[in-house]
Amino acid sequence: MTESITIIDNRTGNQLEIPISHGGVSAAEWQKLLPGIWFHDPGLTATAFCESTITVVDGENGILRYRGYPIEQLAEKSNYLEVAYLLLHGELPSAVAFDQWRHEVTMHTFIHENVRKRFLEGFHYDAHPMGMLVSAVAALSTFYLDAKDIFDPESRNKQITRLIAKMPTLAAAAHRFSVGMPFVYPDNSLDFCSNFLSMMWKVAEPRFDANPTLARALEILFILHADHEQNCSTTAMRVVGSSHADPYSCCAAACAALYGPRHGGANEEVIKMLTEIGSIENIPSFVEAVKQGHGRLQGFGHRVYKNYDPRAKIIKRTADDVFAITGKNPLLDIALKLEEIALNDEYFTSRRLYPNVDFYSGLIYQAMGFPLEMFPVLFAIPRTAGWLAHWQELLDQDSKIVRPRQLYVGAEPREYVPLSQR
Ligand code: SDX
Repeated sequence: MTESITIIDNRTGNQLEIPISHGGVSAAEWQKLLPGIWFHDPGLTATAFCESTITVVDGENGILRYRGYPIEQLAEKSNYLEVAYLLLHGELPSAVAFDQWRHEVTMHTFIHENVRKRFLEGFHYDAHPMGMLVSAVAALSTFYLDAKDIFDPESRNKQITRLIAKMPTLAAAAHRFSVGMPFVYPDNSLDFCSNFLSMMWKVAEPRFDANPTLARALEILFILHADHEQNCSTTAMRVVGSSHADPYSCCAAACAALYGPRHGGANEEVIKMLTEIGSIENIPSFVEAVKQGHGRLQGFGHRVYKNYDPRAKIIKRTADDVFAITGKNPLLDIALKLEEIALNDEYFTSRRLYPNVDFYSGLIYQAMGFPLEMFPVLFAIPRTAGWLAHWQELLDQDSKIVRPRQLYVGAEPREYVPLSQR
């Protein structure tokens, strides 16, 4: 059996055989036979947007691998900065390379004082921290004018390091602003996650030492959220990157996409949903309402996973470690019961709706003391590594500017009608 398809234009009888390669067929080949006939694919549900070597998500089998390494092994044995290096460079770093990488990131954790004093403090007192982060990331493009040299390897690497290093600082600064607390400068004697927790929670003590179990739990969550192939925000990164905008502007676009409740905002929506349900007794009526089309089961469903999201399994295990320190999140019992009921209900199983990465992550974040509004921000910090890996890949692929076609279904040509005649 040849790995190909044959298409026939029934209007002319002409036909064309197109090879199936890496699970796809080339639209450019299709155009040879059918110029001007476009695939109509809202949401790009059946379109391969690019070729990539970074991450693979096997939705049928619930598998996720970064550069070939199973997410389960990375979550157990690696750390976020090492995973970021892997995503960006394609290989796990040697000890020397990792030390150099960690040093570089550590030396770039500070943000320009004007970003804090003049920019972040200019927001309204109740500004949502994710809205602040989207804006602050875009603002960074005005501080690093060399970022436009996207084909200069030294400049590109410097911006990548700056973004990885500064996202936690910007994130913590947005939180501190929103709760009226003074900004905490990075403590470069701490590791990536402990430094972020210090910038989040340090008060009057000379040094904030995070609980190692909580710091490790956050590290695991950051590893799990680092990349996920062509999700909405990474696609936004590639779309804006294809115009050759600077990486800060691209990341701001990706951040904005992640902000949406269908995507990175879902973990915030999960907690609101569990809180609204309020008790295990209310679950059946809530589930019935969802089945009647009133709202959705937040944290359930996925465009690619038609099986259990492997990240949700790991997060569920991590939750136990966190709750041993923080005390169990009272919403956990509701979440567990909701999952049990949904996974035994034909409405959800027939639509292959399973818990995704957001279903349990919010319970951990809430137990660790993060405000709800910080949840999408906690997603953006690690996903920056994935966004930048894909941005770098598209530039190295010399991809074309993204400019899809459309099917026009609007008005036929017509003459202008003067105002006096309308
Ligand atoms: C993330 O893409 C990624 O990789 C994203 C992500 C990443 O790491 O980047 O994994 C992170 O964004 C996870 C998803 C977080 N979002 C949510 O949990 C929000 C709730 N879930 C959804 O709204 C929905 O499941 C999506 C957006 C995640 C996926 O939507 P699709 O693939 O477009 O599916 P669909 O909307 O076409 O739904 C198919 C059917 C529909 O029913 P019918 O119209 O066929 O009768 O399933 C139903 C939907 O109504 N459905 C749900 C549901 N999700 C889909 N019904 C109830 N509850 C849900 N959560």
